[in-house]
Amino acid sequence: MSPCVCWLQLTLALLLLTLAAAPGSRGGGENCPAACLCPDPHTVDCSARGLTRLPEGIPLDVRRLLLSDNGIPRIPADFLVLYSDLVYLDLRNNTLSRIEAGTLSTASRLVFLDLGSNNLTEIPEGTFGESRSLIKLRLGNNPHLSAVSEDAFLGLTSLRELELERNALSTLRAGALSQLPSLRLVRLEGNPWVCNCNFANLFAWLMDNRQKLPNGHSRTLGCGHCGYGTKDL
Ligand SMILES: *[C@@H]1O[C@H](CO)[C@@H](O)[C@H](O)[C@H]1NC(C)=O
Ligand SMILES: *[C@@H]1O[C@H](CO)[C@@H](O)[C@H](O)[C@H]1NC(C)=O
Repeated sequence: MSPCVCWLQLTLALLLLTLAAAPGSRGGGENCPAACLCPDPHTVDCSARGLTRLPEGIPLDVRRLLLSDNGIPRIPADFLVLYSDLVYLDLRNNTLSRIEAGTLSTASRLVFLDLGSNNLTEIPEGTFGESRSLIKLRLGNNPHLSAVSEDAFLGLTSLRELELERNALSTLRAGALSQLPSLRLVRLEGNPWVCNCNFANLFAWLMDNRQKLPNGHSRTLGCGHCGYGTKDL
């Protein structure tokens, strides 16, 4: 082998090594939190890492943050102020028990938020601020979630899909849904509905809107020993 070819090989090898070590070549590069993967420059994937709190060093410009299947009990109220580029936030299957008021700021770019399979107990008024970009909100499988304020979703003008299935809801005011002008899919099955005026109104609203909500699951929605509307509370 001529010395020339050998030199070329060495240069190529060095070049490849340099590229592999360069920031950005792993996507998040040096800004990737230690426990996580950064498959592209805008995604931080910390799913199923045994985390009991938010990892340190999440880059401020992250757009997709995957935190599902951990044991994270809370997110700070200023989280989305800090991470204002977030479009996709997956917190499914953690141990969140509450979302502090104002967590979702008015300026949020969030389009997808998954809070399913957590330990939320209530969704108070104003929880989601005026997240006008939010299109899909998953809140199902929170086994202690028994209270959703009539104004819980106020301001979510783009929301198309709302999941509230398999929670502990015995009642839900129709107003909570009728305030959502873009709603096209709502999941409500698997809740312990109580047959009262609220349920009758909710059911009537779902029936009235079944063209708009083809997947409204109103047919699978029932309350124990029905006759809804006959017992006013
Ligand atoms: C939820 O996350 C835990 C880890 O914290 C995992 O063991 C479990 O399989 C996950 N459950 C589901 C339904 O994915
Ligand atoms: C979930 O919430 C219930 C009721 O608030 C509480 O008893 C339980 O300990 C919580 N579980 C976890 C894993 O935080």
